[in-house]
Amino acid sequence: MGKGNIKVLITILICWLILANATRTKASINTQPMKLTDEASIENVMKSLTIDEKVQLVIGAGYPGPNGVAGSTRSIPRLGIPSIILSDGPAGVRIGGLFAGAPPRIATAFPIPSLLSATWDVKQMQKVAKTMGKEAREYGVDVLLAPGVNIQRDPLGGRNFEYYSEDPFLTGSMATEFIRTVQETGVGTSIKHYAANNQETNRTKINAVVSKRALREIYLPAFEMAVKQAKPWTVMSAYNAVNGVFATQNRTILTGILRDEWGFDGLVMSDWWAVKNPVAALEAGNDLIMPGDYRGPLPMPELGKELYTKSSAPSPELLKAAIQDGILSKEALDSSVRNLLKLIIKTPTFKGEYKNVDYQTKTTLSKKTAKKGARVNREVASEGMVLMKNEKKSLPFKGVKKIGVAGENAVVDLAQSKLGIIIGGGGSAEVNVDPKNVVSLVQGLKNADYAVVDSINGKKVIEGLSKNEAVNLAKNTDIGLVFIGRQSTEGADRPDMSMKPVEIQLIKDLSEAYHAEGKKLVVVLNIGAPIEVANWSDYADSILLAWQPGQEGGNAIADVLSGRVNPSGKLPVTFPVKYSDVPSYGNFPGDTVNNVVHYTEGIYVGYRYYDTKKINPAYPFGHGLSYTDFAYSNLKLSSAKYLLSKNEPLSISIEVTNIGPVSGKEVVQLYIHDQNSKLERPFKELKGFKKIFLKPGQTKKVTFAIDKRALSAFDDKLNKWIAEPGKFTVLIGSSSQDIKQEAEFMGVGKDVN
Ligand code: BGC
Repeated sequence: MGKGNIKVLITILICWLILANATRTKASINTQPMKLTDEASIENVMKSLTIDEKVQLVIGAGYPGPNGVAGSTRSIPRLGIPSIILSDGPAGVRIGGLFAGAPPRIATAFPIPSLLSATWDVKQMQKVAKTMGKEAREYGVDVLLAPGVNIQRDPLGGRNFEYYSEDPFLTGSMATEFIRTVQETGVGTSIKHYAANNQETNRTKINAVVSKRALREIYLPAFEMAVKQAKPWTVMSAYNAVNGVFATQNRTILTGILRDEWGFDGLVMSDWWAVKNPVAALEAGNDLIMPGDYRGPLPMPELGKELYTKSSAPSPELLKAAIQDGILSKEALDSSVRNLLKLIIKTPTFKGEYKNVDYQTKTTLSKKTAKKGARVNREVASEGMVLMKNEKKSLPFKGVKKIGVAGENAVVDLAQSKLGIIIGGGGSAEVNVDPKNVVSLVQGLKNADYAVVDSINGKKVIEGLSKNEAVNLAKNTDIGLVFIGRQSTEGADRPDMSMKPVEIQLIKDLSEAYHAEGKKLVVVLNIGAPIEVANWSDYADSILLAWQPGQEGGNAIADVLSGRVNPSGKLPVTFPVKYSDVPSYGNFPGDTVNNVVHYTEGIYVGYRYYDTKKINPAYPFGHGLSYTDFAYSNLKLSSAKYLLSKNEPLSISIEVTNIGPVSGKEVVQLYIHDQNSKLERPFKELKGFKKIFLKPGQTKKVTFAIDKRALSAFDDKLNKWIAEPGKFTVLIGSSSQDIKQEAEFMGVGKDVN
């Protein structure tokens, strides 16, 4: 080989080396992990994540989360994946305080969700949700663990106060508005507890045996409506089992129904320590195991048994071993990680919006936000209070200057945590308040310039009364007020719904004493769920259901009693005459030895039952009085026929006039009755409602649109919703029992879906 040739060869070799090196540098740039930046980056991040990292991500970061929040997720800083903050709850932002290992963070304790739905007013819901979203943002919360939309199956349910109603349509409508509005503030929600979590007794073990039809018609529709219409960022799976499979591991409900049928594309997280078998949970579609630390024995393995006994904690190590052993599929893990990344990129934390939040030292809201919270609380609370009885228009107060207040519930004793009012229920829905911000009943009345007599002969009247004292009180004051309270909390159902004999005696004695003076007696109920009323209501001239109205409760009660606000709340739940009348009586809380509860009442829950079986309640679903009166006229349907083969809306209109002396709001309720059906059906079902404001003499036209679903029932055998041909009745009323106008139409043709 000549010298020239060697030169050429060396040149080629050098060029090749340079090129190869350049390519290698380029290749190494390509393998640099791509950080999470947006939706488009997710697939690359998925490729960069190791198995060890993925199994970390699907398990929460432990309880409590930073600064006492309920939980958080784990971060992978090398890929730009931050930890996000999950915080309760349905009646306000709950951070720190009891059990949370951090100082309480003061937030607005809003009225309980049962009161919110008793407003039957989506605009009120928007106000609360917007304010709650703002408070969540001040505390750096990414996902608010709310709303709770389980149906109030039995009046003794310990968490009924946290839930909306006995009716799925009302629940779904209110929850949809809550979710939409909170998420508009940039904070996510977690609709919970999916599904059939209707009791607290043995809640982590109980198997709810529910017919397919009752699930579809009663227990799932609120989730369905909210998922389809408001797209919650997350869903929380429940503690209990549904038809034999734990909700956290139930593929039928988590994947089959939620994702495949309803199109949910968010993240499913478990309730706290609810996952028994992490492998089964991930395989079923439960993406995130919360809160991530281990509590107590995990009793019932179903899948991945060997691993389960090796280590029962839902740890990343366990999941990694499950992947290696082929028990957990890579696809299931990937799908959950992907759902988490999709959630993370939506959060304020990820977007850098919380950089200025000083989580560690911040223990109160800004003055402006706190003020807004109180204002919204007061307004909404008065809108959701229900005037159950008002004999001879005893309310609002007329010529009343001095009020005689009785009832242990009105006692203020901070040392014993008695605030002079019950502002909300207990558990994860409890909000940390500053007692200074709580307006007791007595304070509320005083703020409204009433003189309150709660002390006679140096003794506090509110702690109890002798007959003589009752007579004295009645002589000394213009009107009597008995304040009855009940508390309940997550983790336990209520023992009964009865009134204590001393309470009934107190009401009776005061009733006699005040009536002897030609004066009135008002009973105010400060409760979260129905109690017995029929056995004492005759003694009271008026009964106001104030619920647990949040920290501004005293002011809101005074607003309604004084007439500053005309009450317009309606019952979202039936008040039965006695507990033995309730449809789940005898099947609640079920067999607590074998941990099974049979929902034998099927679809006959709440008014669907009382109405169909003709059992008179004390106060029916939808009931609530006003200081004015309304007249209904001109019910019109857009057509006398409804073509079942199409799904076009049927338009229904009615005119409502305020025929009383003062401005007021009415909730116009639309029920459908199916006259000819092969499937057994409840007598009527709520399918629409609207709240309107009317000045005296004013008339407004209210319009509804219903579709085929409003006429349908779920056929267990066909496994689908069907609308049967035949006659239907539209019933419009001011309660489920006070129907003002009716009209018929014909469902024709065949429902071909
Ligand atoms: C409750 C959930 C709550 C969670 C976190 C659980 O005990 O059931 O509703 O969100 O705790 O506090």
